[in-house]
Amino acid sequence: MAVERTLSIIKPDATRRNLTGKINAVIEEAGLRIVAQKRVALTRAQAEGFYAVHKERSFFGELVDFMVSGPVVVQVLEGEDAVVKYREVMGATNPANAEEGTIRKQFAESIEANSVHGSDSLENAAIEIAYFFAQTEIVG
Ligand code: PPS
Repeated sequence: MAVERTLSIIKPDATRRNLTGKINAVIEEAGLRIVAQKRVALTRAQAEGFYAVHKERSFFGELVDFMVSGPVVVQVLEGEDAVVKYREVMGATNPANAEEGTIRKQFAESIEANSVHGSDSLENAAIEIAYFFAQTEIVG
């Protein structure tokens, strides 16, 4: 297995409930290292750009509204097999289907307010990391 980096976003439902530290503890206990992190109020343009791949989906407007409804914490996570590992640590998109112990099972409120985002492939991880971070902001 290779050491990889993936992009994580702690979403507004979680920052609103002051869950950043608890989510970071789950991430770190899973063996992933937080090598960059910042709290950001996304602009509508930033959120639309980030989720552009979903722009034809029926929920796109609601997803963007939600992501600008409060602060988010964007992070770069590093570790062995980080992309797949973080998807496992997050749990299923819909918390009703998420496994015990996952972030979404423990903290998510709904399929929309599902507390965290994680890149779905190594290729997208590189694109998503570059969307939010300069190389100099990532300290491994
Ligand atoms: S995934 O993880 O990409 O396979 O999930 P997917 O089902 O394709 O969903 C993509 C993102 O859209 C969010 N989502 C929704 N938002 C609002 N309303 C509804 N109904 C809805 N369904 C899915 C979901 O949380 C995913 O967000 P990210 O940030 O990519 O995890």
